Amino acid sequence: MKNNMKRTRTLRPWWESAAAYQIYPRSFKDSNGDGVGDLQGIISKLPYLSELGIDLIWICPIYTSPNDDNGYDISDYQNIQREYGTMEDFEELLHKAHERGIRVIMDLVINHTSSSHPWFIESRSSIHNSKRDWYIWKDGKDNKEPNNWESIFGGSAWEYDEKTGQYFLHVFGKTMPDINWENTQVKRAIFDMICWWLDKGIDGFRVDAISHIKKPDFNDMPNPKNERYVSSFDKHMNQPGIMDLLRELKENTFSKYDIFTVAEANGARIEEIDEWVSQEKGIFHSLFQFDHLNLWNVESEEGKISIKKLKSALTRWQKAVSADGNVALVMENHDLVRSVSRFGSPDKYWKESAKCLALMYYMQKGVPFIYQGQELGMLNADYNSHLDFRDAPTLFGYQERINKGMSPEESLEVLKKSTRDNSRTPMQWDDSPHGGFTTGTPWIKVNQNYHWLNAKAQIKDEDSILNFYKKIIKIKKETVGLIYGDYELLMEESENVYAYTRTYEDKTYLIVCNISEENSQLEVDLDITKADILISNYADINSNEKVLRPFECRLYSL
Ligand code: NOJ
Repeated sequence: MKNNMKRTRTLRPWWESAAAYQIYPRSFKDSNGDGVGDLQGIISKLPYLSELGIDLIWICPIYTSPNDDNGYDISDYQNIQREYGTMEDFEELLHKAHERGIRVIMDLVINHTSSSHPWFIESRSSIHNSKRDWYIWKDGKDNKEPNNWESIFGGSAWEYDEKTGQYFLHVFGKTMPDINWENTQVKRAIFDMICWWLDKGIDGFRVDAISHIKKPDFNDMPNPKNERYVSSFDKHMNQPGIMDLLRELKENTFSKYDIFTVAEANGARIEEIDEWVSQEKGIFHSLFQFDHLNLWNVESEEGKISIKKLKSALTRWQKAVSADGNVALVMENHDLVRSVSRFGSPDKYWKESAKCLALMYYMQKGVPFIYQGQELGMLNADYNSHLDFRDAPTLFGYQERINKGMSPEESLEVLKKSTRDNSRTPMQWDDSPHGGFTTGTPWIKVNQNYHWLNAKAQIKDEDSILNFYKKIIKIKKETVGLIYGDYELLMEESENVYAYTRTYEDKTYLIVCNISEENSQLEVDLDITKADILISNYADINSNEKVLRPFECRLYSL
């Protein structure tokens, strides 16, 4: 299929000033009443995305899959999951998005496949099968797993195969076997598949779990607490030698096309940022880093997240990224809780805090990735039973807690705070049944706040979170200093105020955000007396006022 996207030659790449939007297709918009979002649903909402100012959409996996991990377990890379539609629907989506100037990137999941993928079915059929080495098989040790690694989804990272008497590695779920990136044939098959999609005219990829593809030695993890399985998450991220694999990937695929790639690069070291993303020698155009999001790891937290730590995590990346590098700006995605619930003030200052967080982050350098519903200030799920959970690791975690003696009530409370389902509840389009997401029964419960929290209401309300997002997307795109300008953190020691400047040539912008429910003092050494305020989330704003009200934010042009 020919790519009908107009490609204009600019001095700087288009994506540096782009606004991106992440679609979790299962929960975005259902067009046929089966309770599951689909491609025609996405097509019907393209005008909404255009109106918001979106240049790029990332669609989470829509390939054929048994759906043990909602599509991250792929059984056929070159087909569309039936419930999402057909390849023709996909081509229609691509074409219609391009007509609007919206680029489309797909999710590329190449650390693992589903155990139902024909490659794995062959691989597990016999020790002598030609595809045996396409996955990671090991003998057990003392009648147990090859080592004590725990999988990210819980339980052992190894699954025993009765027929051939060996174990296969799965860093994620047990139906998601890891691909052996040391095998040349499987790499060739992956590269061919990638080029097949790129030849279809898609605009690039979000590359899933890519820092895991290089496997470490297979030794046991240290086990001071004598646990059955030990978290090995850090161990198999970003291992020495990974760059060689990534370069090979790029040379055989991405480098031949005019596309955009963004890596999910958990564990990528800041010192190596240029190798990951600089335009000169980087593998990808941009990356998702998780230092600030790991602060949101709620289960271990006893309360408020330190704003100082958040500032420091974000600032480190802002400072490290070179003039031509890029980090994606991500506050929410389908694996995280909703940012306003965790970080803002969902009850008292819902609107103010949603706007404040958006300004705080999206005026930084990088491509904003807005997760569906974030632009409405959607909140965590309102579950009151474990039967509402859909996410596999959450269900596993619930059972584990019960097995260890935790009460059902407590297990529910703990998991409610952290479950990935929080961000997977259906998009709230209007106040009709199920928030206008489906005319059928939704695959996952809709948050009942849809009666007042929905897109239709916010489109009409000039002061809504949605309209604030629209405005800041526009400002960012039109303001060179906010796209390319240098970043400088101010008020480093403040526990409430996140203030920074962006400076490009002789023009400076000041962003101040009071991330707290109290009044806070603005203390910056800059003359703001004559500065213009380009946007704020309070109506009666006086640019000279040094007291910032709860979650007040301002963007100054100095
Ligand atoms: C990261 C994805 O974002 C997540 O949803 C998925 O479960 C894992 N990778 C495994 O593919």
